[in-house]
Amino acid sequence: MKICATVAEIRSIVAGYRQAGESVGLVTTMGALHDGHLTLMRAARADHDRVVATIFVNPTQFGEVADLAHYPSDDDRDISLLKAEGVDALFLPEVHVIYPPGDETIVETTELANKLHGKVRPGHFRGVATVVARLFNICQPDAAYFGEKDYQQLQVIRKMVRDLHFPLKIVGVPTVRETDGLAMSSRNARLTPKDRAAAVVLNQSLVRAQKAASDGATVEAIGDVIREHIKSEPRATLRAVDIVAAETLEPVSGSLTSKIAIMISAEFGSVLLIDQREISP
Ligand code: PAJ
Repeated sequence: MKICATVAEIRSIVAGYRQAGESVGLVTTMGALHDGHLTLMRAARADHDRVVATIFVNPTQFGEVADLAHYPSDDDRDISLLKAEGVDALFLPEVHVIYPPGDETIVETTELANKLHGKVRPGHFRGVATVVARLFNICQPDAAYFGEKDYQQLQVIRKMVRDLHFPLKIVGVPTVRETDGLAMSSRNARLTPKDRAAAVVLNQSLVRAQKAASDGATVEAIGDVIREHIKSEPRATLRAVDIVAAETLEPVSGSLTSKIAIMISAEFGSVLLIDQREISP
């Protein structure tokens, strides 16, 4: 696996792939890799001759400095995981490479970034769009793979690619879960054993929501099913349950006529977890 720290190096590697007529799939990450990330690498591999990964803990998407400082990082471990996965090239830049001194350009999907989860974390999706736009320009892939676990992020990126005419395809990959259903996340390692056990209520409530939807429940009734289930777990502090139209994330109410997205966030101790999924009527 080629490991590059500069824009010139990764550009010349990708240019070499292109000259050889090979297609390139990109997976952007912040490291602390787990099976969720590796599943994105496998999806990219299934569709493309070459897989390029990026690891960059993006400072502009963290609201609180403490959150950034605590973000887990173990490059050696991540590099061995990527090598074992057969990733062709890794872009591992320092902050000044992505954000050159004097940098002032931002990218923001003004509507999508500032609703729902974007209200709880002001500036977060602007930071995500800004870094992902730069990574796309640097790596110039044919397609990029993103997890449905971060449902709003996926929609922000789809919108940005459409609006700015990026010449690449965005592929959403279903959430990879632990055997008890908890969505894989680097944050899970920060849960105490009791909170780890309790956190399973998030996925359970989504499963109950799908069942209620299939039984014909209204949006409001589905919301009640989720809130009741999470509140039955004393270790969980519910932060938000948002039920919106899939993709546009517009408000919905009453009976279900088309696909919806459910976005839940809850705290377990000091760890904020999210789980999100689409549900069909
Ligand atoms: P990170 O949290 O490292 O996630 C990188 C990618 O892995 C994202 O597309 C995310 O949705 C996906 N992912 C994480 N957990 C997953 C799971 N359990 N199942 C499936 N996919 C999963 O998301 C980011 O980094 C950053 O915001 C980034 C896009 C890299 C921009 O900085």
